[in-house]
Amino acid sequence: MIVTGGAGGLGSATVRRLHGLGAAVVVFDRATDPAAALADELGDGVLGVGGDVNDDAAVGHAIGAAESLGQLSVVVNVAGGAASAGRLVGRSGEPLDKSGFVDTMAMNAFGTFNVTRLAAAAMAAHPADDDGQRGVVVNTASIAGMEGQVGQLAYAAAKAAILGMTLPMARDLAPLGIRVCAIAPGTMGTPLMEMAPESMKEALVGNIVNPKRMGRPEEFASLVEAIVANDYLNGENIRLDGALRFPPR
Ligand SMILES: NC(=O)c1ccc[n+]([C@@H]2O[C@H](COP(=O)([O-])OP(=O)(O)OC[C@H]3O[C@@H](n4cnc5c(N)ncnc54)[C@H](O)[C@@H]3O)[C@@H](O)[C@H]2O)c1
Repeated sequence: MIVTGGAGGLGSATVRRLHGLGAAVVVFDRATDPAAALADELGDGVLGVGGDVNDDAAVGHAIGAAESLGQLSVVVNVAGGAASAGRLVGRSGEPLDKSGFVDTMAMNAFGTFNVTRLAAAAMAAHPADDDGQRGVVVNTASIAGMEGQVGQLAYAAAKAAILGMTLPMARDLAPLGIRVCAIAPGTMGTPLMEMAPESMKEALVGNIVNPKRMGRPEEFASLVEAIVANDYLNGENIRLDGALRFPPR
């Protein structure tokens, strides 16, 4: 399997869980050193590949590395984030900068599209199982793709694009026996988030309904595991948010 963004908070939790269950994993991340360090730490059956999700050659290396470990059948697109934030028209009347919007779309929406198209083509070359199945793609959106907050326009649009890809990807890849789902996390307690000031963490937890805490990266990984294991989950966007609905700000 390939986990993009596998060196980050949610990605590394996914790598650890699925490797613990016996999966061979490629940690693909533009953060080359942390990807290599995680692969070294986990040892057998884990390879670190550095590169950008929009670089076809780098994605090709990741696919080649995965195939060297076994037949590629699982792709988890976790790479993403926000390249910029800001209101559409700032307080001084200036329009929002275009480049941050483009970069945010690139790291989330274009990257997810790019890795999936290349990986699915490689997966299509393998024999299907007795049920006609060749594997599954799990994408990572955000509840911001449904309830974007003030200042989150680019990120919300990029994650909405990922949510919008789920069903047409599942339909396009159905003849190949490849399923596609997306996870839309709410506020997750990644190591980075845990380092935030207490007052900020309290504010973030304030609107979460139940459990009254941030999600655990292991809970994200456990949902990836469930999607991989359940052949009848397909074409669905799944919220993982403790019933959180983002308020306007
Ligand atoms: N943490 C949260 O609360 C939360 C909530 C909703 C959605 N998400 C989404 O979950 C995903 C993971 O979030 P995280 O909190 O683990 O973030 P993170 O920053 O810890 O991890 C993201 C990883 O993706 C990598 N990456 C980014 N752009 C890349 C690119 N172009 N090519 C290759 N690698 C790239 C980064 O190097 C990093 O290792 C992101 O898509 C994020 O938008 C996170």
